[in-house]
Amino acid sequence: MFRGKTFKDFLIRPQKSVIISRRKGVDLSLPLSSNITLQLPIVGANMDTVSGPKSAKAAAMEGGIVFLPRNCSIKKQAGWVREVKRQHAFVVDNPVSVEKDMTIEEAKEIIDKHKQEGLRISGLLVEQSKNSNKLSGILTDRDIKYGLSHKNNNMRKVSDFMTSFKDGRLITATPGINIEDAEKIMLESRKEKLPLVDEVGNIKGLITMRDITTFKNKPYSNRDKKGRLRVGAAIGARGDYLERAEELIKEGVDCILIDIAHFDSEVGHSAAVEFRKKFPDTELVCGNMATSKAVERALELGININAVKIGIGPGRGCRTRLETNFGVPQLQAIREAYLVIRRAQLTGMTNYNVPIIADGGINYKGGIALSLLCGASSVMLGSMLAGTREAPGILYKDPKTKQLMKIYRGMTSPEAVIDSHDDEGEALDALETPAEGQSVPVQYTGPMEDLLKEIRGVLASAVSYAGEETLANAREKISQNPERYIVPLSEASKHESFDR
Ligand code: XMP
Repeated sequence: MFRGKTFKDFLIRPQKSVIISRRKGVDLSLPLSSNITLQLPIVGANMDTVSGPKSAKAAAMEGGIVFLPRNCSIKKQAGWVREVKRQHAFVVDNPVSVEKDMTIEEAKEIIDKHKQEGLRISGLLVEQSKNSNKLSGILTDRDIKYGLSHKNNNMRKVSDFMTSFKDGRLITATPGINIEDAEKIMLESRKEKLPLVDEVGNIKGLITMRDITTFKNKPYSNRDKKGRLRVGAAIGARGDYLERAEELIKEGVDCILIDIAHFDSEVGHSAAVEFRKKFPDTELVCGNMATSKAVERALELGININAVKIGIGPGRGCRTRLETNFGVPQLQAIREAYLVIRRAQLTGMTNYNVPIIADGGINYKGGIALSLLCGASSVMLGSMLAGTREAPGILYKDPKTKQLMKIYRGMTSPEAVIDSHDDEGEALDALETPAEGQSVPVQYTGPMEDLLKEIRGVLASAVSYAGEETLANAREKISQNPERYIVPLSEASKHESFDR
């Protein structure tokens, strides 16, 4: 029934609802990959007008994740991972520190430098001497302001203004403290920061009240074992792709995506095999694929692939189908992948779960539910997220309509290709390849948080219409037996359903 079909070709038959109140929250958790669960199965596309450090943080706060794009230097992409992993963690592992003999000016410079890199720091731990890692005190924003307001401030040392560890005024805790106890200590001592030190005074981390508050206010947030927000990153399949992976992994990336237009190729396969040899324990997604044979061949590589990314040519910024006439309608592609993976699991070919990330072509919210209920475990969104405040695309006001817009561009659009090369000659060479991508304007939609909350709401409704209590149950019921639940549409019923 899915042959040649895609999103607006179907509706789903409503079932008797068993949800009493949606206000209590409906469980929407589904796996991104074998070892990562999303509380909201939404994935930001690895595109430079969709996913950057700001959208990564916003998506993870609401339970999703993004993959950072690879069309930039390794240093830049690794820096983005660092930025996401450092901020909003329950425990800051390597807090920024200064030495007690530095001047206040120097301490301020360090804060400013981190600010330029996107890291907001409101206090510094003070070490006894350079790289000693022995806690000497803490220097807050306010201490710095006070220090700078002094005459001859650049003669003044950090130690003159910090709260000192030695004189007992500084409250600390031991590593391994839980969130409730940390909060209690900070509330009772009316402190905003809690340095963690071991029995001999070595710095082991920092907990801040601000992070505890965000932690508690974001019950669905997507975090690793250390309480750090999760983020993925894309690599290619040639050249320095393994070096790139290594740097991203060093910074704590949670999932690597080998992302090439046509994974079902010698290049794609050997990249995945080489990656696995070098990084046996890193979560790996491979894409893109669109046929049952491609997924079969990926599974037959015999390596641990933790998710597959499905979709060739459905995206808003894609021209692949127009230029080459190749591709598979997206819902058919999802079903082909689903059936191969299910068979592989039932026959014991894979003893672990290989979730499907359905990538591209979703331009109305109902398409998210349909993809998931037909077998995907998460959906990757490009254009739908590109209009949000946090997406890195350029914001402008349309002179005719006066509406705020952002530019969304395919990663092989001439604009993205030019930007991804520092060298003009290399850019011109790259432009020789026919463009399979294009730039389009999308409407500015405000904070990503609002959009993701809306998506949470509509998915909860979908679970209710599906007659189940959780999205995972609804997905299992419908994807295993689509003939019973999915209604193919006539032209008239498509018109009735989707034309407004
Ligand atoms: P949506 O429809 O959500 O699609 O905007 C996002 C997906 O589009 C793919 N993509 C491209 N495909 N040429 C292509 O053929 C391109 O230049 C291009 N750029 C992005 C990609 O899979 C993304 O996740």
